[in-house]
Amino acid sequence: MYSKIIGTGSYLPAKVLTNYDLEKIVDTSHDWIVSRSGIVERHVAAENELSSDMAEQASRRAIEAAGVGLDEIDLIIVATTTPDQTFPSTACILQDKLGIRQGAAFDVQAVCSGFIYALNTADLYIRSGQAKTALVVGTDALTRLLDWNDRSTCVLFGDGAGAVVLRASDTPGILGAKLHADGSHRGMLQAEAHINQGRIAGSPFIFMDGQSVFKFAVKVLSEVVEELLASLNMNRSEIDWLVPHQANIRIIEATAKKLGLGMDRVVTTVAQHGNTSAASIPLALDSAVRAGKITTGQNVLLEAVGGGFAWGAMLVRWS
Ligand code: ACO
Repeated sequence: MYSKIIGTGSYLPAKVLTNYDLEKIVDTSHDWIVSRSGIVERHVAAENELSSDMAEQASRRAIEAAGVGLDEIDLIIVATTTPDQTFPSTACILQDKLGIRQGAAFDVQAVCSGFIYALNTADLYIRSGQAKTALVVGTDALTRLLDWNDRSTCVLFGDGAGAVVLRASDTPGILGAKLHADGSHRGMLQAEAHINQGRIAGSPFIFMDGQSVFKFAVKVLSEVVEELLASLNMNRSEIDWLVPHQANIRIIEATAKKLGLGMDRVVTTVAQHGNTSAASIPLALDSAVRAGKITTGQNVLLEAVGGGFAWGAMLVRWS
């Protein structure tokens, strides 16, 4: 028993914030942001637009592309760092908004690598026979955690959602995954706030030691890809497409170079989306699928690293 992706969908909020808009609110410049990150603009969720709202739009598009009925979905996993509420899970809220009443629904919290963690979990559910048709979503509104006076973080993030429908299949599908975490690095990238007795304790804003994150990301991403390929007895030349987490074009280019992949085989959306955390891979995947770039029989490598630190890679044979 295997699982395979049978539909993708994504959603971006209507409001676009360009680098030139940011120049008006913080001491930065379009040229600095582009040269250090590759980001030109990002989308920002409306004030009343929640992670579950963005997830609903992306999910409806993925479900339509998959051609499955809502009554067939027996598992919903949502990767998010910006849940609608402390509880219930955003997955349960999404289930309700979609009008689904059957199956299991829960959230996965692995920050920027959340979508790979969620997709791996859904794959294992399907391969064990516990589910047949899973909706896997990455949705985040990280702009809500930004200090708009902190130019070292506020220029990097955006909001959005992406989704896939994963279904049981006799043929692969998802070929394999490798996930890692090392919580000892958690101070390098965090939003430490929590609610205590009705008050917010700790800073509610994203803190990031950018240079340390950059070095760590480039190192572990190439390591985990090599580990994954070795476990599958495959080599780099068999990768047709790299769909990386879209944090920074320089991290993406460095990883592609280490893998010997030309940038023409790398899907990049970071210029238009910024870093949308758990949404970034499914957003990029959906854009490449709808543009007709990824075709049947191709091997697609997904990889991500983020707060935790948590990171991972997954290889998918497109069918
Ligand atoms: N505009 C203008 N100047 C800025 C800005 C800004 N937005 N932000 C920082 N600077 C200044 C700094 O103050 C510093 O000035 P100084 O030399 O006078 O002290 C100078 O620019 C250089 O700052 P650095 O932090 O050294 O710049 P760097 O080249 O490292 O780029 C960046 C910063 C883009 C954050 C980079 O380190 C990076 O991309 N790190 C990876 C972080 C990342 O991608 N995080 C996303 C979340 S984690 C993940 O998803 C992988």
